[in-house]
Amino acid sequence: MKLTLKIWRQASNVSKGSFETYELIDLHPEMSVPEMLDVLNEQLILEGKEPVAFDSDCREGICGQCGFVINGNIHSPEKGVTTCQTHLRSFKSGETLVIEPFRAKAFPIKKDLCIDRRAFDRIIMAGGYISVNTGQAPEANSTRISHELAEEAFDSAACIGCGACVAMCKNASAALFTGAKISHLAMLPQGSVEAGKRVKSMVAQMDAEGFGSCTMTKACEAVCPQGISVANIVRMNSEYWKA
Ligand code: FES
Repeated sequence: MKLTLKIWRQASNVSKGSFETYELIDLHPEMSVPEMLDVLNEQLILEGKEPVAFDSDCREGICGQCGFVINGNIHSPEKGVTTCQTHLRSFKSGETLVIEPFRAKAFPIKKDLCIDRRAFDRIIMAGGYISVNTGQAPEANSTRISHELAEEAFDSAACIGCGACVAMCKNASAALFTGAKISHLAMLPQGSVEAGKRVKSMVAQMDAEGFGSCTMTKACEAVCPQGISVANIVRMNSEYWKA
């Protein structure tokens, strides 16, 4: 199959960006979008041109490193998948793909399709962990947790921090990400000890990073590749007021 790519090229955070057009032929429909960009970059390198910068790591939908906007779709025209899980069979041969980075003030563009998502790391550093004394690992079954609760906490913990929720939200809110990180710890007995301190400092950091407010349009939930529910935002708000 062949595709025309219109890709956002931007040399740095302070440069002016623009779309550049590339034609690719002989693409295999089973290639993923990052594999297609690998093909393009090999071509650009052979031509002595600057390859397109983009982030990817696991290419299995686990790490959250990838993420572009393709024809206006966050991650993918398919539902519930990351960019790296999007295959060319999702498009028609001869189609034009417009590819640009996730856009949000708190996610500045580093280069081309690479964005700086360290704001998420700083929210985690503000409290998204459980403090334990060092020493021997505790016995795994010493604190009993029901299967239902463990499953619920795991559903929240499935957030991969890709930033799709922020990119889709009209307010660029990080409430779904922060809510998921707060929820999965607050629901478990090990995390409830620091729950009040955690929610206050993580919400304060989220606001300090310049993310917008949540107005519950649920657009974030609709594009989340992990299916994280807005129930996590409700739980974050309830934890916050409790604290
Ligand atoms: S590269 Fe890891 S989720 Fe896409």
